[in-house]
Amino acid sequence: MKFFIDTANLDQIREANDLGILDGVTTNPSLMAKEGISGYNAVMQHYIDICNIVDGDVSAEVISTDYDGMIKEGEALAALHPNIVVKIPMIKDGIKAIRYFSDKGIKTNCTLVFSAGQAILAAKAGATYLSPFVGRVDDISWDGIDLIAQIVNIYQNYDVETQVLAASIRNPLHIVQCAEVGADVVTCPLSAILGLLKHPLTDIGLQQFLADHAKASK
Ligand code: G3P
Repeated sequence: MKFFIDTANLDQIREANDLGILDGVTTNPSLMAKEGISGYNAVMQHYIDICNIVDGDVSAEVISTDYDGMIKEGEALAALHPNIVVKIPMIKDGIKAIRYFSDKGIKTNCTLVFSAGQAILAAKAGATYLSPFVGRVDDISWDGIDLIAQIVNIYQNYDVETQVLAASIRNPLHIVQCAEVGADVVTCPLSAILGLLKHPLTDIGLQQFLADHAKASK
């Protein structure tokens, strides 16, 4: 399973990358706004900055919701760096845009996915990645992990090449559950990745080892 970080914060991207386990980055307009990145040139430069930190796919989302706008924006984003993946919303014109980019060999990430039907459509259009939102499904008392499992199962039935990129990951348990059901990628906040490290018995065991070593060295 590939690990992406879901943020536009450069310090957090560097921290995850320094761990040596990072395969890519996803962003969205809300995450860019959270970092105070606004204006066309600043946004474009920020994507280049991210690509210069991480050697892996970097999803950059279009703002347009019409076909022509998405094509224009997506082409400009794809021209920034070979690792840019054009992130496109799951809407009618988005499907057409995914087909366009797929035919041109430009990678896409279909975002705002909440159903298996949407997943089938995005795969038919040739999306490179599909982003079902686990946490937001959980937020409305449905089961986000069940959705990932259902999509993984459908894609396996037909050897679909579209990779299931579990998004809206909120905690380390989501990551473990995504691995259990066979997600290809998880994109997570840094806190969820670091949460995987935690176990009280690791801390107690290390303390004991160091104490025994200190005693023996006296
Ligand atoms: O990748 C999509 C993700 O950023 C959404 O996460 O926590 O806002 O639902 P969240």
